[in-house]
Amino acid sequence: MIARVLFVCLGNICRSPTAEAVLRRMAADAGLGDRIAVDSAGLGDWHVGDPPDTRAIAAAARRGYDLAHLRARQVARKDFDDFDLVIGLDRGHGRDLTAQRPPESAAQVRLLLDYAPALARDNGPDIPDPYYGGAADFEHALDLIEAGTAGLLDALRRSHP
Ligand code: 4NP
Repeated sequence: MIARVLFVCLGNICRSPTAEAVLRRMAADAGLGDRIAVDSAGLGDWHVGDPPDTRAIAAAARRGYDLAHLRARQVARKDFDDFDLVIGLDRGHGRDLTAQRPPESAAQVRLLLDYAPALARDNGPDIPDPYYGGAADFEHALDLIEAGTAGLLDALRRSHP
């Protein structure tokens, strides 16, 4: 196993399930499907058990990613044992995750756009919440998620040549 990766956003119905599906597909396409474990969770419990937002499902489906089968869950203490990388989609998530991380955990908390530094310099380090936005906001989130995830996959491959 190269890495166990958990993506975390607020609700686990828009950004983090999208990142989960994108990394799963990119890892499979790179022949690393069985060496990178991927999951996602939310900081809040509002949507636990729900499928992703229909707008997130539709935007992802147009690019060939399948999210429809995913179900939201809330991040738990155990996640800091079960995953090597716990990746927030914006700085608020990063702060909350750093606060929740047990001191003895070996997990690293990162932001997805840490892996796309040029983009983070131009657009800021956050993947904005599309939940209260429109279709264009979901497309923009997906653009950023694809860029960050491609950078993450490159970093994982470089660390395990
Ligand atoms: P996500 O989007 O964090 O990308 O899944 C949101 C989904 C739901 C809510 C906020 C953000 N909410 O407040 O219910």
